[in-house]
Parts: sequence; structure tokens; C-alpha cells
Amino acid sequence: MEIQTCSELSMHAQLEQAESFLRQCYSELEKSPAELKQRIEAVHNEIRQTGTYHHTAEELAHGAKMAWRNNSRCIGRLFWHTLEVIDARQAETAHQVAEALFRHLERAGNGGRIRPVMTVLRSGREPETAIRIWNHQLIRYAGYPEEDGQPRRGDPASDAFTAVCRKLGWQGSGGDFDVLPLVISIGEEPPRWFTIPEALVQEVPLSHPEIGRFSELGLRWYAVPVVSDMLLEIGGVLYPAAPFNGWYMETEIGSRNLGDTGRYNRLPAVAELLGLDRSTNTSLWKDRALLELNRAVLHSFKQAGVSIVDHHTAADQFVRFQEQEKQRGREVSGKWHWLIPPMSPSSTPIWEDNKLKELNLSPGLIYQKPAYAGPDRNPADDIPSMKCPFHQ
Ligand code: ARG
Repeated sequence: MEIQTCSELSMHAQLEQAESFLRQCYSELEKSPAELKQRIEAVHNEIRQTGTYHHTAEELAHGAKMAWRNNSRCIGRLFWHTLEVIDARQAETAHQVAEALFRHLERAGNGGRIRPVMTVLRSGREPETAIRIWNHQLIRYAGYPEEDGQPRRGDPASDAFTAVCRKLGWQGSGGDFDVLPLVISIGEEPPRWFTIPEALVQEVPLSHPEIGRFSELGLRWYAVPVVSDMLLEIGGVLYPAAPFNGWYMETEIGSRNLGDTGRYNRLPAVAELLGLDRSTNTSLWKDRALLELNRAVLHSFKQAGVSIVDHHTAADQFVRFQEQEKQRGREVSGKWHWLIPPMSPSSTPIWEDNKLKELNLSPGLIYQKPAYAGPDRNPADDIPSMKCPFHQ
């Protein structure tokens, strides 16, 4: 086939990607060869006529599960098949999208017994019509940089987005744990923002199993991490708004969100509380503070009845996932430096795994440029295979 134009090229690519997805999806769902053949023909026709195609609810649900299974950075993939997929492709207005996101939080939060959920909004990546969620996660804390001698507050990772929210008219209290509003745009219309109803924001105040004064640090974290800025790709169809969640692993909160120097940077405060000697590295005060902070996260979530997994259990589950995939004849894509947990990594079995490699699998969850002008993610992460080779 001789390819002349960009649209022909993308149509050809679309046909191929659709077909290869349908083959894998239908074989995993144990559909008959006749059903597969019929579906491929129908999809070919739809692509020829409209340039794209619509997934059935079943294809969408299974494709989303495959995208989770394929994500090289996720240690929690043993549970990929339990993902609950909410088909919200009918939502058109920013209001309707916000409603769908509220429903997501309710369904996923489930009073603490967290359910892995993905809500898929309609496909299409053209800037004139695309649905975009501007938040990195549906629930996240605002960040306020140091200003006029006032110390910085909140989560530094949210500074740029918080400034966007304030420009749009949102006002935070200027505290360390202000929940940001949802910001949604449809095509080139100005974005709309929505306050998340308090009842949908589950949070866990941190306390320690032995150290009573730990709660005086005033630390807390939210229960459900819903990543909302990635693009879901299934069989060549792009869904730029498809927020998804699992439950937390304690090191995400204890080691990274609260421990990182570029985030809440609370190791010195924890060490101070523990009475550790911070004048020398050899007291291992950082390591001891990290350990107690992570214990506090696990203890507090358990006490609050909110699902959480520790990094040893998660690593064991990942090994079971690898074994399971091997049995089913599928290769696992894995990024070692993301999969090893950020505390005591060498005491987990992933540490020794020198065979992990990243594969370019589809369906997938892909980084995309933030919807607002902010600090860019690594442009190399932006779907290279989706770009027209002639007009890059
Ligand atoms: N690491 C991110 C955070 O700490 C959340 C990413 C998704 N995590 C998860 N357990 N599903 O907020």
C-alpha cells in the first residue's frame, strides 16, 4: 500500500492497531473466531467511513484492564482483572464530566474498602473538542510557594496547578492540606472549576502505633489516589480523560509525598520528635525517621479502615503477577527503578530481578502534555507512535 497523505497514513495505522487489539481482546475473552471476524469487518468499515471507531462497552472494559496490566511502573498489577470500568463516554459538558468524576470518587472510596476503578470519558484528542481534566489527581493538596516572608505551605508538586486554580477564581485557605478543585475543559472553551463535596474526600490523620506525640505533627493524607492526567490508548483510539485509581502502598505517602525534600520534606520534623541526632549522617536519622513515618501511615490507614498495602506484600504480589503472566504466555513490561519501593528496596525480591525491561505495549496509559501551560513533562514521554512522521 502506498501511503500518500497524513490522513491515509493514520487510517492505515488505525486499521492495524484496531485489528491487533481486537484479536488479543477477543481471544482473552474467549470469543468465537466468527464473532471476531465479523467485528473486524465492522470496525474496518467504520474506520473507512469516519476515520475512527467506537469500542463496545465490553471492549472498553477489557482494554482498560489490559492497559493497567501493561503499565511498566505499577507494582500492584496482580489485581488488573478486578478493575471496574465506568463507561462515561456520554458525558459532554464540563458539568456532566464533574458529575462522573464525583461518582468515581464515591464508587472507588467505598467507605474505605477501596475499589480499583477507571472512568472513561469520550475519545478524541483534537484540541478543538477534547475533554481534559487539568488535575494530576482528582484529589490533591494545593501548594503555595514562599511569598513576602511567609513560609511555603502545602504540596510543592501542586504549586503550578494551584496558581492556575487561583487565576480561575478559586481561593484556598493557604494551609498545608487544602484540597484543590476539579478543573475541566472541553475543547477550546474556557475551563470550569468545581469544588469536590467534602463527603467525597476521605482523609486519614496520621498517628503512630507507639509514639503518642506523633499526631502533633498534624500530618494527614487522602485515601484514594486517582491519577487523572494520563491518556488511555486502546486499539489506536485515544482517551485523554480516563482517571483511574488503586489503593495506596504506604511508601508512596511516607517515603515520597511526605518525605521527599522536594515535597513535604517532613523527615527533619519526624526526627526532631523522635529525639534523633541530626548533626551527623551516621546516626541514620533520616532512615529512622523514614521508617517511623511509614509505620505511622500503615497504622493510621488500618485504624481508619482504609485499604493500603505495605511494600513487602506488594512486592510479593508483583512476583505472583509475573508468574501468572508467564503461565499465560504473556511478557511483562517493567521499569525496575519504578518498581522497587522507596524504602528497603533490597529486602524485596524485585531488587534481584535483572530481567525486567520496558516494552512498548498496547493498550496503554501514556503521559500527555498538561492541559495548562505549566512545567512540561518529558516530551519524550508523549506518544511518539501516534505522531505523523511527516509533520512532527
Ligand atoms: N504515587 C502517587 C501518589 O503518591 C499515586 C500514584 C498511583 N498509586 C497507586 N497506588 N495506585 O499520590
